Amino acid sequence: MFSKAIIIVAGARLALGFTPLETFYPPGLNDTSYISNSSIGTYGGVYQAPTREASTSAAYGTYDYCTMPHPRAQEYPLPGPVAKGTVKAKIVYLEYLQRHQRRTPYNILPGGENQAYNCDDFLPYLYGGASSGGPNPLPVYGKTYSDSSNPFLEGYVNGTCQFPQLTIGGFLDGVQHGEDLSAVYGDKLGLFPSSPDSGKVWFRSSESPLTQQSAGGVLRGVWPNYQGALPLHQQTSSVDTVNEGYSCSAISSTLSKIESTTEWSDHLSVTATLRSELATMLGASSSSWQDTFDHFSDNFQGRLCNGYALPCNVQNTSDCVSTAQADEVFRAGDWEWNYYWRANPYAQQYIQLVEGLFIGEILTHFQAVKNGKAGEMKYSHTFVHDGDIGPVLGALGINVLRWPAMGSNIAFEIWQTEDRNSTFYARVLYSGQPVETIHGTLDWLLLDDLIAILQPYVPTDIEALCDA
Ligand SMILES: *[C@@H]1O[C@H](CO)[C@@H](O)[C@H](O)[C@H]1NC(C)=O
Ligand SMILES: *[C@@H]1O[C@H](CO)[C@@H](O)[C@H](O)[C@H]1NC(C)=O
Ligand SMILES: *[C@@H]1O[C@H](CO)[C@@H](O)[C@H](O)[C@H]1NC(C)=O
Ligand SMILES: *[C@@H]1O[C@H](CO)[C@@H](O)[C@H](O)[C@H]1NC(C)=O
Ligand SMILES: *[C@@H]1O[C@H](CO)[C@@H](O)[C@H](O)[C@H]1NC(C)=O
Repeated sequence: MFSKAIIIVAGARLALGFTPLETFYPPGLNDTSYISNSSIGTYGGVYQAPTREASTSAAYGTYDYCTMPHPRAQEYPLPGPVAKGTVKAKIVYLEYLQRHQRRTPYNILPGGENQAYNCDDFLPYLYGGASSGGPNPLPVYGKTYSDSSNPFLEGYVNGTCQFPQLTIGGFLDGVQHGEDLSAVYGDKLGLFPSSPDSGKVWFRSSESPLTQQSAGGVLRGVWPNYQGALPLHQQTSSVDTVNEGYSCSAISSTLSKIESTTEWSDHLSVTATLRSELATMLGASSSSWQDTFDHFSDNFQGRLCNGYALPCNVQNTSDCVSTAQADEVFRAGDWEWNYYWRANPYAQQYIQLVEGLFIGEILTHFQAVKNGKAGEMKYSHTFVHDGDIGPVLGALGINVLRWPAMGSNIAFEIWQTEDRNSTFYARVLYSGQPVETIHGTLDWLLLDDLIAILQPYVPTDIEALCDA
């Protein structure tokens, strides 16, 4: 009964006629006509958030670029057989991955930005100190400013932000994210320990302040009263297995092959007018702005997701990017992500090259749980990037992949039956809902079957593959 009520809530339709879940899986995305069809708009996706508050713009469960949904107690679905009572089982382990929360853009418009960015209301702390003994460091933080005597500022962007950096909205979203995880995996399911210094949890991030500062917000939400500091594990950045840390020449050569297919050139043809209009308006005619939609999408969502408007031509401030143009940029960006990680002929090899080692590390955790070697470990949380979440979803065989947006998350839950067999099962939630894949909806499957889905993406010899 409980699960039925949840399905009705999750089935509530948005104004545009989509359920929240449907906004994750646009049916025509694997086709360039999806990009040019303006009647699709954003396919129910939301690209708007306030500057200084946690974002709650969208109905729960909707694809929201600024703040993706995450497991939340009010809507959290128990695995089908557990909810129905046909199986008695308890959760024994959570492997949680997430992209950092919202931020300023990486890419500043070559023609200049028509507005300043303000980050004064967020303090990026910077201090280090001795592990034992003293003295305690003075807690300094970064404070960005613009010096009007700096001639290079002309034509760049005014204000008090770094590009990129986490924003106050992103930090507050992170705290909310952690509070909600704690309500599900702590209060409801009893998996999280009451204190993080118990040897039952493990945290990791990339080398980027975006992921590190997201961790500070999210983990504060999980443990609001914890007073100490916590280790956030990182591999040495030049060999890191996340965020393309290690060097591997086959990554760029494979990407070149992907971007040389007829589908790829079709997507550039159908967007020729759009790209040319934006090039003129924003001074963005270089290949780095024209060859993919990465930069336009990044710049536009960085504005919209932090309370700013779409950009205008700095020479003529009535000449601005329209909502229709932005929507087409976002559709093209979604098409590209689906193409990179699902639809291109080299996708399996590309995932192996970019993310295979990390997927292998996740499988090692699963094997440890299965073989009783995980000790007390209950919860691992890794803070990474879109470029990590995308390939993991690709490896899972997600039916359709939109750009994994701010705070997007994958929860690998491991459950154990409470019968004589003590069998291990898995389920995989993507941004709060069981992920829909070519292997079916991953709501309840043998842990061994989940391992079998992911194993082909773990290269046996990454160095040979990289040199090939
Ligand atoms: C455009 O998308 C709409 C749905 O929003 C669909 O009904 C229509 O057939 C599409 N048009 C083309 C030309 O693909
Ligand atoms: C940047 O700030 C300076 C000083 O306030 C101002 O003169 C200039 O017009 C601003 N430029 C932009 C692009 O906002
Ligand atoms: C400025 O842009 C608006 C809107 O595109 C246009 O109508 C107008 O002619 C432009 N002004 C100049 C001086 O180019
Ligand atoms: C995408 O479409 C192409 C061409 O129709 C097809 O060959 C391919 O299997 C599709 N891929 C996915 C992941 O749906
Ligand atoms: C336990 O395992 C046995 C042997 O594989 C199987 O026949 C039985 O159905 C299992 N019991 C449950 C409750 O899954």
